[in-house]
Amino acid sequence: MTASPCRSPDAADRRASTAPPALELSGVSLWRWDAEVQRERFLLRDVDWTVQAGEQWAVLGSNGAGKSTLISIAAASAHPSSGSAAVLGERLGSVDVRQLRERIGLVEPRTARAISGRLSATEVVLTGTTGSIALQRRRVGEAERIRAAELLDRFGCGALATRSFDSCSQGERQRLLLARALMLRPPLLLLDEPTTGLDLPGREALLAAVASITDEEPEAATVTVTHHVEELPPTTTHALLLRDGVVVAAGPADAVIESAALSTCFGTSVRVDRLDGRWLARAERADRADR
Ligand SMILES: Nc1ncnc2c1ncn2[C@@H]1O[C@H](COP(=O)(O)OP(=O)(O)OP(=O)(O)O)[C@@H](O)[C@H]1O
Ligand SMILES: [Mg+2]
Repeated sequence: MTASPCRSPDAADRRASTAPPALELSGVSLWRWDAEVQRERFLLRDVDWTVQAGEQWAVLGSNGAGKSTLISIAAASAHPSSGSAAVLGERLGSVDVRQLRERIGLVEPRTARAISGRLSATEVVLTGTTGSIALQRRRVGEAERIRAAELLDRFGCGALATRSFDSCSQGERQRLLLARALMLRPPLLLLDEPTTGLDLPGREALLAAVASITDEEPEAATVTVTHHVEELPPTTTHALLLRDGVVVAAGPADAVIESAALSTCFGTSVRVDRLDGRWLARAERADRADR
């Protein structure tokens, strides 16, 4: 894959967009009762976050930082305990979330585990027509079949069309799930650790596929969750850093994906470099960190 430089939508792009923000979180906290200590435990605390149409966000943070919890609110599958959250202009708590979810593309580890391995690759992609785990055949027509075939080709899975999901490699399955999530051209695409377990060519192929979404759907907003900046598509425009459920930094990618902010986010001294539009991070040796 040839990495292209990070592209921020310019002022003209923004003026052209009349879409509401893809995500608008204000003062969002989410807590669960912790029986062991007999008090609430905060998974997210006072999160303000706006994702505009056409922006490509990265969400970074350590294990347990709250990334997947944040994605579950963005996917309209969890509600804030306090604060307000609007997804695609619809305020959670006053909208039919089943309809809203049909407008959200979601790739998360649970989906791969839930889908029947007996479905063919084409059928897996077609389940994206309804965003359901099972294939609802009566909702699938010729237009959906054509779209699924196009997506299989686009993500290099054309030869897999009749293969069972079970028999596909992990990288192939991830690409199928990405194709599935794009079936309805969702204005919001959420990717929770999409490259986990992929080898280098598999990771690069998936990132190229994610980067290509901006060409086909320039108004679509994407959010990619990862632990590793190397796994970010070069089209990333913005980033949000989480630590212990709190936003450490959020804003344009160039300003946020840098050494000081990532060091705070991960609680260790990190050095970030840029190469051909991609990011590279490594822990700094303690004896060099202060220089
Ligand atoms: N239903 C729940 N009840 C109590 N605690 C929970 C619940 N769901 C998640 N947590 C806790 O909330 C914290 C944040 O979890 P979350 O899955 O959002 O983290 P994450 O940043 O996605 O981590 P990872 O990188 O490991 O996927 C974790 O400490 C987790 O154990
Ligand atoms: Mg997670």
